[in-house]
Amino acid sequence: MEKISEGTLAIALLALIQGVLASGAVEVQPSINPAEVGDSVTLSLSPSTTLRSGSWAVGASLILTWLGDQQAVFPSYSGRASVNVLTGALTLNSVTVADSGVYVVQSSEPQLRANASITVLEPISNVTLRTNQTNLMEFKSSAVVTCSVSSGSSLSFLWMNGSSEVKASDRVQLTDENSTLTIVNVTRYDQGPFSCRVFNLVSNGTSDPVNFTISYGPDNMALTVNGQNTTSFPIGSNLTVFCSAQSSPPALLQWAFRGELVNTTGPLLELFRVGKDRSGPYSCLAFNKHTNMNSNITTHIMITEPLSGSEQQAVNVMLLPLLLLVEFLILLPGKL
Ligand SMILES: *[C@@H]1O[C@H](CO)[C@@H](O)[C@H](O)[C@H]1NC(C)=O
Ligand SMILES: *[C@@H]1O[C@H](CO)[C@@H](O)[C@H](O)[C@H]1NC(C)=O
Ligand SMILES: *[C@@H]1O[C@H](CO)[C@@H](O)[C@H](O)[C@H]1NC(C)=O
Ligand SMILES: *[C@@H]1O[C@H](CO)[C@@H](O)[C@H](O)[C@H]1NC(C)=O
Ligand SMILES: *[C@@H]1O[C@H](CO)[C@@H](O)[C@H](O)[C@H]1NC(C)=O
Ligand SMILES: *[C@@H]1O[C@H](CO)[C@@H](O)[C@H](O)[C@H]1NC(C)=O
Ligand SMILES: *[C@@H]1O[C@H](CO)[C@@H](O)[C@H](O)[C@H]1NC(C)=O
Ligand SMILES: *[C@@H]1O[C@H](CO)[C@@H](O)[C@H](O)[C@H]1NC(C)=O
Ligand SMILES: *[C@@H]1O[C@H](CO)[C@@H](O)[C@H](O)[C@H]1NC(C)=O
Ligand SMILES: *[C@@H]1O[C@H](CO)[C@@H](O)[C@H](O)[C@H]1NC(C)=O
Ligand SMILES: *[C@@H]1O[C@H](CO)[C@@H](O)[C@H](O)[C@H]1NC(C)=O
Ligand SMILES: *[C@@H]1O[C@H](CO)[C@@H](O)[C@H](O)[C@H]1NC(C)=O
Repeated sequence: MEKISEGTLAIALLALIQGVLASGAVEVQPSINPAEVGDSVTLSLSPSTTLRSGSWAVGASLILTWLGDQQAVFPSYSGRASVNVLTGALTLNSVTVADSGVYVVQSSEPQLRANASITVLEPISNVTLRTNQTNLMEFKSSAVVTCSVSSGSSLSFLWMNGSSEVKASDRVQLTDENSTLTIVNVTRYDQGPFSCRVFNLVSNGTSDPVNFTISYGPDNMALTVNGQNTTSFPIGSNLTVFCSAQSSPPALLQWAFRGELVNTTGPLLELFRVGKDRSGPYSCLAFNKHTNMNSNITTHIMITEPLSGSEQQAVNVMLLPLLLLVEFLILLPGKL
């Protein structure tokens, strides 16, 4: 690059000051915007114009000036900026994030002033999630997950819970410009997988997922006898009582009959050829040694004499007047 004397530089600066009046019709067009770090950006004038002299500046700093075919590049841009002395187009090589700004070209011959804004962004790489613990207790622990990148500028963050976007709420907070996810008092449904998506105008990236192991329960217990909800069985039946509880890790299950523990553990209690003496309350006791919580459920099983056909009829005959009476009492108020 040719050096020009300080005198010429002064003339160029003077021309610059005089050329402040805008021509209006000419616009600056960047070859790329936003640009990535390392790109070369050319700022051309449109419509193309022949400029005998002029200058380029960004914000308050001058980049270069030219007069005829001589150009002077300011030291902080030396080796990186050049102008096409015929068209006034500025080329800036190896741009950095700091090169973002409003680029202004001024000329006195012809008189014009025009500008364009350029944004230089660093592409995103290596999106990483960090969390201080993944083993959590339902309703007791809070989860804190932080999303970060090795490089990237002007970032926006989006959190995913499985395939749906995480929505902020009372217990779900997005802070630090959405780069931190906090789930207060986790529930069993918050196991994830959670991932973080990071965007800027030139790139995007997604983290590996994080899962939480959430201890909960036991609760929502249920009992069935021979796969049914009915609890009345004839003498001599074989009964399989099945107990379930929602619990993580799985609950230890024990059984009690009339309040006394029986020598059976696990989800199944089997009773063979039951007699009437087996009527009574059966309880299933659940304990989660991780949450240190317990729960229980009780059902009353009736062991009955099998009804003969005639007995069944007798019952119906006895019930009939009763049913009629009930119906009468219900209808009575309406008839008055
Ligand atoms: C850029 O140009 C616009 C429109 O001509 C003008 O409003 C704005 O002030 C200019 N900005 C600078 C920094 O020169
Ligand atoms: C990705 O980021 C993590 C955490 O910030 C760091 O330990 C790791 O070295 C990075 N990997 C690369 C390839 O930059
Ligand atoms: C993890 O962070 C949360 C919130 O800052 C805190 O309550 C919890 O004690 C931390 N756990 C560990 C293992 O550091
Ligand atoms: C979290 O649980 C604690 C203790 O059970 C309670 O005081 C607090 O209000 C809960 N916070 C939210 C956001 O539910
Ligand atoms: C954070 O994310 C929400 C959407 O979940 C969005 O509306 C908001 O603008 C984001 N905030 C920042 C600082 O990016
Ligand atoms: C994650 O998704 C599940 C449903 O799949 C939902 O119940 C849970 O509340 C969500 N958790 C967060 C923190 O978004
Ligand atoms: C993420 O970047 C890739 C190219 O790296 C692009 O194909 C894709 O459309 C981008 N996704 C979004 C949601 O911007
Ligand atoms: C997280 O959970 C999902 C299913 O919910 C599973 O497919 C995935 O392998 C788990 N990831 C890790 C890192 O444990
Ligand atoms: C037993 O009753 C519960 C609700 O009380 C119901 O959810 C369940 O489906 C029933 N099971 C059978 C086998 O009828
Ligand atoms: C009850 O179980 C016993 C022993 O398994 C079996 O011999 C018997 O046939 C069963 N009775 C009924 C009614 O299924
Ligand atoms: C319970 O059963 C175990 C073996 O299954 C036996 O060793 C133990 O003596 C039994 N205890 C009672 C009180 O029946
Ligand atoms: C069963 O649960 C009730 C509360 O639902 C509790 O008061 C009782 O002590 C429990 N019984 C056993 C044997 O744990």
